Amino acid sequence: MTHVLSAVAWPYANGPRHIGHVAGFGVPSDVFSRYMRMAGHDVLMVSGTDEHGTPILVQAEREGVTAKELADRYNRVIVEDLHALGLSYDLFTRTTTRNHYAVAQEMFRTVHRNGYLVPRTTTGAISPSTGRTLPDRYIEGTCPICGYDGARGDQCDSCGHQLDPAELRNPRSRINGETPKFVQTEHLFLDLPALTESLTTWLRGRTDWRPNVLRFSLNLLDDVRPRAMTRDLDWGIPVPLPGWEDNPTKRLYVWFDAVIGYLSASVEWARRGGDPEAWRQWWCDPAARSCYFMGKDNITFHSQIWPAELLAYSGKGSRGGSPGQYGDLSLPSDVVSSEFLTMEGKQFSSSRGVVIYVRDMLARYQPDALRYFIATAGPENQDTDFTWSEFVRRTNDELVAGWGNLVNRTASMIHKNCGSLPEAGTLTDADRALLSSTGKAFDTVGALLSTHRQKQGITEAMKVVAEANKYLSDMAPWKLKKEDPDRMRTVLHVAAQAVEDLRVLLSPFLPHSAQAVHEALGGTGTVSPMPQIQEVEDLDGGPGYPVITGDYRVGTNMSPWESTPIVPGTPVAPPKPVFRKLDDSVIAEELERMRESESQ
Ligand code: MF3
Ligand code: ZN
Repeated sequence: MTHVLSAVAWPYANGPRHIGHVAGFGVPSDVFSRYMRMAGHDVLMVSGTDEHGTPILVQAEREGVTAKELADRYNRVIVEDLHALGLSYDLFTRTTTRNHYAVAQEMFRTVHRNGYLVPRTTTGAISPSTGRTLPDRYIEGTCPICGYDGARGDQCDSCGHQLDPAELRNPRSRINGETPKFVQTEHLFLDLPALTESLTTWLRGRTDWRPNVLRFSLNLLDDVRPRAMTRDLDWGIPVPLPGWEDNPTKRLYVWFDAVIGYLSASVEWARRGGDPEAWRQWWCDPAARSCYFMGKDNITFHSQIWPAELLAYSGKGSRGGSPGQYGDLSLPSDVVSSEFLTMEGKQFSSSRGVVIYVRDMLARYQPDALRYFIATAGPENQDTDFTWSEFVRRTNDELVAGWGNLVNRTASMIHKNCGSLPEAGTLTDADRALLSSTGKAFDTVGALLSTHRQKQGITEAMKVVAEANKYLSDMAPWKLKKEDPDRMRTVLHVAAQAVEDLRVLLSPFLPHSAQAVHEALGGTGTVSPMPQIQEVEDLDGGPGYPVITGDYRVGTNMSPWESTPIVPGTPVAPPKPVFRKLDDSVIAEELERMRESESQ
């Protein structure tokens, strides 16, 4: 048994999430966490909404509300959507809790005390109309190198050069078109060069990462510079240093505090559970494993900035130092990054209407249909495309006609011919072959899931589904009723055992239907637990908020990752179909809906 931290990227609370987001961080982290729990590990799965920074401010301005109102609005929307998808967070919280502020400030103070946050005066861009920092990527203008007019303040997408916003010719704000004002401003910079040696040593040991993530992360170390960890903003966590903390226009950089969410959410979870030190089992024990899930645009922050913060906090850079009150904190064992999902060949874009929100998807389709698509056709290792025709095809041909049909015909034949799960007589080679396939799949699929090869994992499980369907067709138990009823019962017993095994094997991917399959075979009680939304009080007197949490105990609510013999005599009722078949007209309807939203 290992302690496994499942650290899931924190979505910005600046709008509803679309299926590209949940394909990147949501479903993969849930598949992993569910599997690891079933395999007997002690999993702590945490995340929350990321509520600071310019993305929130820009959208708040658009909607004519304050940043906090905006964050409240979308925190709730996101909580509801991730809950509906069945993501089994132990705690999904937010970055505007008092607990998070306290943890982030403790980290900042200690990193500063250890000498890794150094003041520097720089030229910063400010929006003249709001007085707020304009982040580099919110400024555009003409590239001084190639003359391209759409260059951004951080880089030119035409010639690829890294830029400084002050170098752009004719700079303008992408938010409202105004010309930014460049001013001298003081910020605290994380001294990445002083941490590079430790970072390099650590990264060189990460040989089991996905090759592209490791290569990208090592490349970052070729050009390390100090990075500003404060901003000229009035929205965010106050800078907890004398001379800074009362300044209403200086705040922590959103990425400095967002990644700390993994730790603060763990602390919050422990405090809510009544054992305030419990989080240490995942953070301070070198034997624990921590896996971070995100889209590829987040790699830098998880393989460089966050580890640098942790090393600096523990005093493990060239400037030395000693840990703060949380002690020596572990670095990520694994940074699991997905690639991008596109939609009908285009990049998702809420503003251009090329989007399908999780909410709209789940209003029309089963959550497990979406989860199945993401697991089998998602962007695990390369960019992939969501198309409605592929979604309908996979739902109908694989989920409904494959897995759903196997469950349905097994349960209905048992109901009709036996009324309850039948006993097996003597097993034939064919019977043993099928049971050996389902049995072996626990090892094969388990090894794949534990190493983040989920696509291959579900493919292996679905191969066994096909094998079981073929078994039923070959054995044709419906023909045996008169001539050999004992043999019929044996075949149905073997089929039911295979369905039960496959139900367990597929439940990390398809947790909603796993429960339905369990019930179709006469099972009672919870075997595939779902998360709950709870309205909680802030632990330190701030305003209350909704969280996602749940009870995912193996053996109580969750099946263990192994074959459990079915119990003959369990009554089996006529089954209801587990999956809904989609009409082909869905494709045209959805494409039409997309065209309408694009033209608005
Ligand atoms: N909010 C960021 C995004 O949507 C992700 C933050 S992940 C965290 O890209 F680690 F910082 F929490
Ligand atoms: Zn250029």
